[in-house]
Amino acid sequence: MRILGIESSCDDTACAVVEDGARILSSVVSSQDDLNQRFGGVVPEMACRAHIESILPVMQQALDDAGMRFGDVEAVAVTTTPGLIGALLIGVTAAKAASWALDVPLIAVNHLEAHLYGAWMSGPSPVLPAASLLVSGGHTCLYLTHGPLSHDLLGATVDDAAGEAFDKAASILKLSFPNGPAMAQAALGGDPNSVRLPRAWLDRDSLSFSFSGLKTAMLYHCLGQNASKRDIRDAVYTPRFVADAAAGFQEAVVDVLVRKTRAALQKTGAAGLILGGGVGCNIVLRERLRRECEELGVKASLTSPELCRDNAAIIAGLAHHMYEAGRVAPLSVEAAP
Ligand code: KG4
Ligand code: ZN
Repeated sequence: MRILGIESSCDDTACAVVEDGARILSSVVSSQDDLNQRFGGVVPEMACRAHIESILPVMQQALDDAGMRFGDVEAVAVTTTPGLIGALLIGVTAAKAASWALDVPLIAVNHLEAHLYGAWMSGPSPVLPAASLLVSGGHTCLYLTHGPLSHDLLGATVDDAAGEAFDKAASILKLSFPNGPAMAQAALGGDPNSVRLPRAWLDRDSLSFSFSGLKTAMLYHCLGQNASKRDIRDAVYTPRFVADAAAGFQEAVVDVLVRKTRAALQKTGAAGLILGGGVGCNIVLRERLRRECEELGVKASLTSPELCRDNAAIIAGLAHHMYEAGRVAPLSVEAAP
């Protein structure tokens, strides 16, 4: 079954065609990095306008790359939640129109579940039950996963997401978009131990996260206490300062993510580990998780980097399992932020 997937939950407009939940026939992503660069981040209204301009050309490109015509699409899947409401609406509206016009089923996909499904599309099926670490721009969560459609929440961030923290730190260091990769790149040349930033562990045994204090500590480290937006604009750093600060910051985030994931594995006795979401591209995080899994005798299923960042292949892939489970959406389905 060939499913057309549509994703527009934040700043990427993406369409893909996936066969039987596994074979990616095409995957097209139109990013808004140039807009984000110009406006210093994602501006929801601008993002929505860009989605409107991109959605049809991106959909057509996905069909062309798959060697298909509209009439060959057997179902349409779309992210309906979570995300920026205006941005979600563009994808949902396009998906409803396609589903109605082609008279094929519509499948409403949860973006977070789709990120975790990336692990299934990246290699052999994960060993279950698995502890799943979802790290994106908007979410940082740990789950106990029993299958592609079954995840019990173990813990989540109480404030900022890990990706959001990377993005803020990058803007303090005046790095260019896309932020996460720019931080990881800058950190390559730095000494992770030269800047010791705080780690928030919360309560003993807690599997929740907090990154807002780390962000503030980064600001103070770079510009002193009481720093303002203007100070960031006027700041001039040496390349060494940027590299060390980026490395110290990355180390602090990775440290917390890895230790809490290890705690989740031990607490649940899970036999597998799943990693998904944009921050999952981070090489230091991936290496540390692999090492932990080796030590604990757990099978690591890390979503491949190209499927970690927002894309529609994971949407169309997961939708196959939803369809098989009879989870088809009515045309009245609504987007939810
Ligand atoms: O999953 P995603 O593409 O979008 C959301 O659902 O939010 O994740 C985007 C996040 C951004 O915050 C970005 O800075 C972060 O993933 N990111 C990274 C890296 N690549 C992307 N963070 C750290 N290291 C990276 N290499
Ligand atoms: Zn995402």
